[in-house]
Amino acid sequence: MASKRGRFIVFEGLDGAGTTTQAQELVRRLRAAGERAHFTAEPSSGPIGSQIRMMLAGRLVGYRGGSWDRRSLALLFAGDRLDHVASDIEPKLAQGMHVVCDRYVLSSLAYQSLDNPAEWVAAINRYAPPPDVTFFLRVRASVALKRRQAASPGTVDLFETLPQQKRIERHYDRDVEAHGKRHKVQVIDGELPLETVSEQIWADVERRLPRRR
Ligand code: TMP
Repeated sequence: MASKRGRFIVFEGLDGAGTTTQAQELVRRLRAAGERAHFTAEPSSGPIGSQIRMMLAGRLVGYRGGSWDRRSLALLFAGDRLDHVASDIEPKLAQGMHVVCDRYVLSSLAYQSLDNPAEWVAAINRYAPPPDVTFFLRVRASVALKRRQAASPGTVDLFETLPQQKRIERHYDRDVEAHGKRHKVQVIDGELPLETVSEQIWADVERRLPRRR
């Protein structure tokens, strides 16, 4: 049965790096190749993840209208992750379905360490099982910003300001170095044309698929 387990594939990168586009494209390619594949994302669509999304967009404000405590936010991201793994990711993998997840632990390490010690963020995420592969789409913060402005002008979520994104860019490089082995990180040049990036990813994923026949 173990060999029939699906692959757990994660996409990481700055806002505007193209993680959602590439994750969805991979699901399309997997299905076209006759594989069963599930697209998902974090924050998840579950109860904790839905709250987080409203908090990021400023549609849910803190106590007496104040801003959110960043430690609480880090714990919510970690809690959402464990709930997501238990209720969605793990059951699908066990059924032999591939799970492609837009963001995972590395996002918490890179983003939540803006305001929290990196070791603490790693500690609260230690029960999240590592993926089979993480594709890190490396894009400079300045390039990612231009893409975001072109895609949705005028909307800025909690972590999307340029100074924060520049720090997150450095954090990702640090975290790929420190956690790359555990999370099996493959660094991809996310500034290449979309099609080139998806070809590179597909070539890598195809090699990892279990033989079913
Ligand atoms: P996205 O749907 O555009 O990827 O938005 C999710 C935002 O939440 C994005 O700015 C990254 C941020 N985020 C964290 O700060 N920590 C996390 O653990 C995750 C999964 C996302």
